[in-house]
Amino acid sequence: MVLYLRTLDDPYMTRPFVISPSILAADFSRLGEEIRACENAGADWIHIDVMDGHFVPNLTMGPVVVEACKRTTRLPLDVHLMIEKPEHLLDAFARAGARHLNIHMETCPHLHRTLQQIRSLGVKPGVALNPATPAAMVEPVLHMVDVVLVMTVNPGFSGQEFIPEVLPKIAQLRKMLDALGSPARIEVDGGASEITLPDLIAAGADAFVAGNAVFKHTEGIAAGIAALRTAMAQTTNA
Ligand code: DX5
Ligand code: ZN
Repeated sequence: MVLYLRTLDDPYMTRPFVISPSILAADFSRLGEEIRACENAGADWIHIDVMDGHFVPNLTMGPVVVEACKRTTRLPLDVHLMIEKPEHLLDAFARAGARHLNIHMETCPHLHRTLQQIRSLGVKPGVALNPATPAAMVEPVLHMVDVVLVMTVNPGFSGQEFIPEVLPKIAQLRKMLDALGSPARIEVDGGASEITLPDLIAAGADAFVAGNAVFKHTEGIAAGIAALRTAMAQTTNA
């Protein structure tokens, strides 16, 4: 029997739609301030993009930044590992305060074991898929995860153009999770905005990473989050 871990003492998992601002698009000279602005504006999680310059063509942050974020906010830290051999660093990220550890299917020859390792650290496991990776590649492990992180850009940078060809894969994953009776979130990452949100919701996504849409909004962070919430409400009432 599969035991799912979403419970009523997890209020952040019960909201219909989750917004997870990606700090990759933040002003790093004012990181604490910007994270607090996200929290005050009603963000649900904080998304932290960890890149190693090998799996993806960019180099960003490590456990020390996760630990600093942990001291800044009470929001769950949604850590996205775009690194080769993530199994070597899971413990360090768990100790730094990650609530979710999302690993890429493409970096894990022993995906089942690595997801087990994350769960054993008391952290919620997520599996991430690049735009060209088919849903079938993660089907055997869907019962093990709390999050399926679907890339809607090629990972590496904020502010890239949304890839609409990924939409059918989101719908396929939603069907697979429903068939399992799994409460796992489908979190989409890349180019999420008030424009792309209706199609993402229609396909079955229920968690949204947002970098530019939040941190680069012309009227500021709170306005960026409010615009996403408005688009969500309009889509579900339509
Ligand atoms: C891309 C990262 C994303 C990125 C999203 O590799 O995983 O989290 O920061 O940024 P936007 O929302 O601007 O596409
Ligand atoms: Zn990300």
